[in-house]
Amino acid sequence: MGSAPDKTVIHKNHSKVKSAMHMQYPISPPQFQQHLIDWQRAHGRHDLPWQQNPSPYRVLVSEVMLQQTQVVTVIPYFERWMTSFPTIEALASATEDEVMNHWQGLGYYSRARNLRKAAQYIMAHHQGQFPESLAALLDIPGVGRYTAGAIRSFAYDRYGPIVDGNVKRLFCRFFALDGVPGTSAVDKQLWQLAETFTPETDNRVFAQGLLDIGATICKPKNPNCEHCCFQKTCLAFKYDRVQTLPTPKPKKTIPTKAGQFLWVESDNKILLEKRASDGIWGALWCLPQIHLQPEQFGEHMQLKGTFKHTFTHYKLDANVWMIDRLGVMEPQLQWVEKSKVFNLGLPTPIKKFLTRHLEGC
Ligand code: ADE
Repeated sequence: MGSAPDKTVIHKNHSKVKSAMHMQYPISPPQFQQHLIDWQRAHGRHDLPWQQNPSPYRVLVSEVMLQQTQVVTVIPYFERWMTSFPTIEALASATEDEVMNHWQGLGYYSRARNLRKAAQYIMAHHQGQFPESLAALLDIPGVGRYTAGAIRSFAYDRYGPIVDGNVKRLFCRFFALDGVPGTSAVDKQLWQLAETFTPETDNRVFAQGLLDIGATICKPKNPNCEHCCFQKTCLAFKYDRVQTLPTPKPKKTIPTKAGQFLWVESDNKILLEKRASDGIWGALWCLPQIHLQPEQFGEHMQLKGTFKHTFTHYKLDANVWMIDRLGVMEPQLQWVEKSKVFNLGLPTPIKKFLTRHLEGC
């Protein structure tokens, strides 16, 4: 057994803080670090594009892309992004449309808007140089505790605790932690464990090891315990709880909302709407959305087609109505040449709908 965590722990500012936890660690932090670092060097991933020249800018972009998205999906987006916006200056001076265009298809578009804001913030407040301290990194728009820790670990090879979905799963199993990850009480414990178990050196290897073992060994389903460097020390393995930890989230049912969109075309153009920066599909180009119920429609509206999309909090059941022309031209509406539609940043379901219904493009 390693040292007990209810003793005082030295925090990075060297103040002594009483830990809230009263549990025994299965192994000490240095033993944990050594197992993981050895495993990462032998079996971890070493050829991901953001591992080459891991500047803070490249780490920021890759980590934000990877927040809700799989590695294989992110790789081509990351490469295209770095070609178009190779530096923080290039990103800060790009237009919102250019930036959104590069995010098209990745979803959770506020991430792209925040990246551009982050670049502008670093230009304005730090003369284009990323700050070093965790506190100053946390002041960057869109940078939370995970991303700040990732920049410290991957870019600077310095102390920077990270807790993402992979780390939560690994720690819940390794320490046999009960409770639903994502709830504040459980997350507080997970961050405390991360602070205690993160080393002072070899941070790049250690952090990559946490993510890689979570992604390739300690998987949500069918974890590969046979090949895990923690098989002998993992409490979930010891007590045969690997299948039941982490504690699953209670299933929630999400509501379905109807949405009404318009299809207006003329010559070789189609009417599109640039959506407001906040809200769903913020700053993306979309078919114009109307807030009428179908029973309020006039007889001149004919159904062109339908599409469905699932967001985190609701399902969208959409109808697209064809009309000859629009009475009032709002400023956010614009006629777009059909051949140029796919140069714009479009939400994925809208892009699919347009691909199916636009002829000759
Ligand atoms: N998931 C989140 N960050 C990652 C990284 N740097 N490498 C691989 N997977 C990740």
